[in-house]
Amino acid sequence: MALDLATVSEAEADELLGRCEIATIYCVGGMTYVDGCESTPELARRINCEGPAILAAAAAKQGARFIYFSTDYVFNGRSGPYVEGAPADPICAYGRSKWQGELAVQDAHPAALVIRSTTVYGPDPNRRNFLYSLRKGLAGTQPFRVPSDQIATPTYNVDLAAAVVALTESGARGVFHVAGPDVVSRLEFARRAAAVMGLDAANLSGVSTAELAQIAARPLRGGLLTGKLAASLPRLRMRGIEDGVSDWMGTTTFTESNS
Ligand SMILES: NC(=O)c1ccc[n+]([C@@H]2O[C@H](COP(=O)([O-])OP(=O)(O)OC[C@H]3O[C@@H](n4cnc5c(N)ncnc54)[C@H](OP(=O)(O)O)[C@@H]3O)[C@@H](O)[C@H]2O)c1
Repeated sequence: MALDLATVSEAEADELLGRCEIATIYCVGGMTYVDGCESTPELARRINCEGPAILAAAAAKQGARFIYFSTDYVFNGRSGPYVEGAPADPICAYGRSKWQGELAVQDAHPAALVIRSTTVYGPDPNRRNFLYSLRKGLAGTQPFRVPSDQIATPTYNVDLAAAVVALTESGARGVFHVAGPDVVSRLEFARRAAAVMGLDAANLSGVSTAELAQIAARPLRGGLLTGKLAASLPRLRMRGIEDGVSDWMGTTTFTESNS
């Protein structure tokens, strides 16, 4: 069964939820290609805001929980890492669509949980996150260019999933930041991850975001502070880069064709 967040209607969402007994919806689907969002902001708004809000409203009617996944791109990146209450001020269409999504979802479902995360890495059956590109890039002969001026708090996806489930089970609602403890540039993240992987980082090349000449603006000093999460779930541990990457190495099989 597939649901397209770009086109889902109220009737379709009601019908789907009425047919299946769903207790909790983790709305991870989204348009995450930041430059694509900048080129097609209306589509980004439909997928990241309108679709999730329609689904959240249907969940509220059925008494189901609703969890929406958002990002530190809701901030302008001038003074991160940020606490939950810091004023949002997105500087690109992706960030705007997610900020509008947060508001619309909470409007449609007042008990919704909004999880903001950032720079998520770890095991992925589709091998689509930064660690996989880094591994591939370092094995090549060309310079692997990584922004040296984008600061964030890299987040191990295994810990993110555990935290979100624990928050959901605790009945949490509203906005929570779920992120790792290290405040680092993308370049430092790459260097530390390469060291854990035992890879030569000689062709790792730090560049400024401006040099990358991307379509959409990126928040530079981003990242998320997690004091609220720690206060709510004191026993939860969000792993730092070395522990996260090392756990990922231990659970992932690499072959010549897929590494
Ligand atoms: N990765 C991060 O660092 C990060 C950081 C902060 C927040 N987030 C948020 O976390 C969520 C998951 O991110 P991710 O990194 O896993 O993203 P991703 O790898 O790009 O996956 C996005 C998912 O959304 C699905 N999708 C795309 N368009 C859709 C549509 N119209 N209707 C229904 N599903 C659609 C995609 O399906 P297909 O594969 O079939 O296209 C894919 O499964 C997103 O909401 C993102 O904004 C991610």
